[in-house]
Parts: sequence; C-alpha cells; structure tokens
Amino acid sequence: MSSLTPKSSDLPNLIARQLVAQPQCFVLFGSTGDLAKRKIFPALFALFLDKKLPSRFFILGLGRKTFSDAEFQKHVEETLLLFARLKGDAQTRKEFTQKICYLSLDIDGDYTPLKTLLLDKEPQFGTRANRTFYLAVAPSYFTKIPNNLKSIGLLHEKEFDSFANIIIEKPFGTDLPSALDLDSELKKILFEEQIYRIDHYLGKETVQNIFAFRFSNHFIDHIFTSQFVESVQIVAAEDLIVGDRVEFYDQVGCIRDFCQNHLMQVLAFIAMEAPSKNEAEFIHQEKSKVLRSIKQIDAIVRAQYEKGYINTDAVSGYRDDARVKDSNTDTFVAMRLFIDNFRWGGTPFYLLAGKALPRKYTEINIILKKAPFSLFPQSSQQNIISIQIQPKEGISIIIKTKVPAKTSLKPVKLDFYYDDYFSTESIPEAYETLLFNAMCADRSLFTDKEELMASWELFDPIITKWKTESLTPEEFYPAGSWPEIMNKIFLDGHYLVL
Ligand code: BG6
Repeated sequence: MSSLTPKSSDLPNLIARQLVAQPQCFVLFGSTGDLAKRKIFPALFALFLDKKLPSRFFILGLGRKTFSDAEFQKHVEETLLLFARLKGDAQTRKEFTQKICYLSLDIDGDYTPLKTLLLDKEPQFGTRANRTFYLAVAPSYFTKIPNNLKSIGLLHEKEFDSFANIIIEKPFGTDLPSALDLDSELKKILFEEQIYRIDHYLGKETVQNIFAFRFSNHFIDHIFTSQFVESVQIVAAEDLIVGDRVEFYDQVGCIRDFCQNHLMQVLAFIAMEAPSKNEAEFIHQEKSKVLRSIKQIDAIVRAQYEKGYINTDAVSGYRDDARVKDSNTDTFVAMRLFIDNFRWGGTPFYLLAGKALPRKYTEINIILKKAPFSLFPQSSQQNIISIQIQPKEGISIIIKTKVPAKTSLKPVKLDFYYDDYFSTESIPEAYETLLFNAMCADRSLFTDKEELMASWELFDPIITKWKTESLTPEEFYPAGSWPEIMNKIFLDGHYLVL
C-alpha cells in the first residue's frame, strides 16, 4: 500500500537518526484535559526550546470549553509553569504560546468550524496543509473523530502531497475482538502508515537504549540466548494506589493497563532479532515475529491490594473505594512465558507489574547461567545484567571476583548510570521523543497493528477467564508488600531479583 508518509527507505533510523519535522499544524483534541496539561504541552514546549519544532508550525487546541486564543495561551503558560520539565523564561514561553490557537468544538457535532479555521491559518503559518491530529480523548472517540475529519475532507487522500497523521493514545481496544473492530473501522479511512499508536514506554530513553545496548555491543547480543541466559525478569512496580482513576482502572486492571502493552513492548525489545534494516517497518516485523513466537502465557497470577502501608504511609485498600467495592479487578499481575524460537527456546521470561508495591521501579534483569563447573567455592549469586529503566536510568552487570588474600568469591557490580555521563536535562521525557518522532513521520517508536494483535491474542483468553472468576483469599496483598501469590509463577530455584 502506498503511503502519505515517506517511504520506509526514506525513514530515519531508530538510533543515530537525524529527524526533521516538516512544516505542519498540530491539532490537539482534548487540549484542556489532564494529558494535555501534564504531558503534551510540556513536551511540545521542550521541543520548542530544543529548536526541534519546524519554524512553520502552529498548534490548534480543541476542547468543549470556551477560550479566546489569548486566554488559552495564558492557560498553557500556567500549565507549563506547573508541569513542564524545562520551564524556559517568560519571553520563550510567550514565543511558544503565540504559536497556539484555540477552537471550541463539539467533537460529536459539525466540524465545519475546524475546517474553516485550518484553511484560514494554514497559509498564514505556511504549514502546507500537513496535519498531525492528536486524539487525547476517550477511546470511544477513536473512530468518530477520524470519520468526521474524513467526511469534511481534512484527511488527505493518498495521492495528495501533504500528510495527515493521527496519534492515538492507549487503550487500543479492550480485548482482541474490539481491537480488531477498531482497526478495521480505522482502516476504512486511514492507512496503517497514518496511525501512530502511543505506548509511552517506547519513548523512554532507556527502553530505546535496549536496542542500542544489544545491537551495537556485539558481545552483549551474543549472550542474549538460551545458551547463556537462565531467565529474564521484567518488573514494573509502582508504589502508588490507583486513586482518582479508579473508575477507568476498574475497567482495565493491571493486565490491560500495563501487561498487554508496556510489558510486552519491553519484552519485544529485549528478545527481538536485529532488524535487517534499522527502519520502522523492519523493526515492527521483528517485534511482531518475537511476540508471535510466544504460543501462550505459561502461568499467570493476579492479585488486588488491601489496606496497608507504603513506606510508612497508611493507605486504603482497592475495594475500600465505594465505587469499586465488589471489584475483582487485578492491581498486580505476574506471569511466566516462553518464546518458542531458536534464540530463546527453554528460557523462562517472568513479567510482573502492579500498583501499591513496596517501591517504584522498572527494571529488566537478565540472569545468566552458572559456569558449567566451579573452580572456586561457589558463591550463590549469579551473573546478572540489569537494565534499569527508572527511577535511576542505567545498566549494571554483576560479576564475581576473588576476595583479596582469600579463595572465596564476592559479587561486585559494574555500573553505568546516565547521570555519570550525560546531563540529566538532556534525557527527554517519553512524550517529547514520541511527539517529535510522530511529527517527523517516523513510526519506529509506535506500536504497529501486528504487534498489538499478537499481544491481544495472548491476553484475551486470560481476560475472558478472569471476568467470570471472583478473587480468592490468596489473591489479596497488603499494600506496600509483594503479593505472595507471585511465587507460583517461578520455576524451581528461580525467584524475583530485588
Ligand atoms: C500508564 C498507566 O500507561 O503508565 C498507569 O495507565 C501507570 O496506570 C503509568 O501508572 C506508569 O508510567 P510510568 O512512566 O510512570 O512508569
């Protein structure tokens, strides 16, 4: 299928790429919402400060509320002061906000005012009718908005010179059938190449660094096989309770909020083969291939937090919120799976994610096999390659060394931390990278349809089963602790590396 975006051979690389955003209008549906406030405007502002936004560029904020352009610009400036990573000075903020206009639009209604405004502003800003539409709205609008845009002629036909791309937030569907339905509805009006599905984990610098770490250090990738790796653990632990988002969270649970998307994307980066070219479509092919090599989730457990203490703070249990008092929703999931291919056959992958756990961290631990026999008194600690995504970004390797003047061994750590080599300011927020890449029409860091469906296929039977089953007493854990039930997924001799 031909596309409105550059051909893959013109697309820049995931690493070492020189991306340049074409002139364009960034149309933001949901511009007065929380995501816009906390993530999207701060990210756009950071790109502006970094001189990555095209000079011919403007932002059109859409929302239900009524604002004049000046009022909305002021609102964005206040937002930046509150939430932006880089706050700039008053003059720079003003220069940025002058690129913003606002339109009050009923997203269920008539889009003529949007069309009129775009056609009026585009020549003024010289954006050549290139449009990036960001849908920071409820998933129920994911087909409605593109349909409305299409019917009024704002999504270009493929032979048109300009591009019109759409960025969609997760969740993309709530199960396999709904994801397939959503995809087929979107494909009636858009090409796959026009759809940018966000998984913000792919925007994290350290997640992208997995790709660099493996494929630019040949000796590392060489040992990423079942010959050397005993097991892989991917842990995304949060130390907060669900809080205000409980009504949304109750519909999805940890399995859809975290596992089906973020954990599987990280897994794909850890386990994929090197793409034959460092370009979006080849990267997507390799990620899909590895996800398709997982025939099923081998073992999975869920749990829900009860009241407890996180650090020293007393917190209430999930069901203590009257809105979800009978809920069986999972706030913790742990699973074991195998990748049935030549590289990974036989190596268990353990994936764990949840809320209200003892501390917040995201980490991948690759536990290496012991030496075939030992010339030294054994130390029980194995070699581990630990990739730390957050809170401190880095990579550590645990090796064993001889204790001076003794015959015994001691595990020591070879550490690389980003802040030892780079200024922490230079590490962009995930949304900065993702928005910039979308504006440059580079889809490497977005989820493509095949990956997404492969992942839904794995989780769909579990979601269906859990829907009909009530939680048992062993499926609860005091907030601030690791659920004991997680031990069921570990094979003999394996345990969570803490
Ligand atoms: C979101 C989930 O996708 O990721 C949230 O919906 C979760 O429930 C968040 O808290 C975690 O993101 P991060 O970047 O803080 O690990």
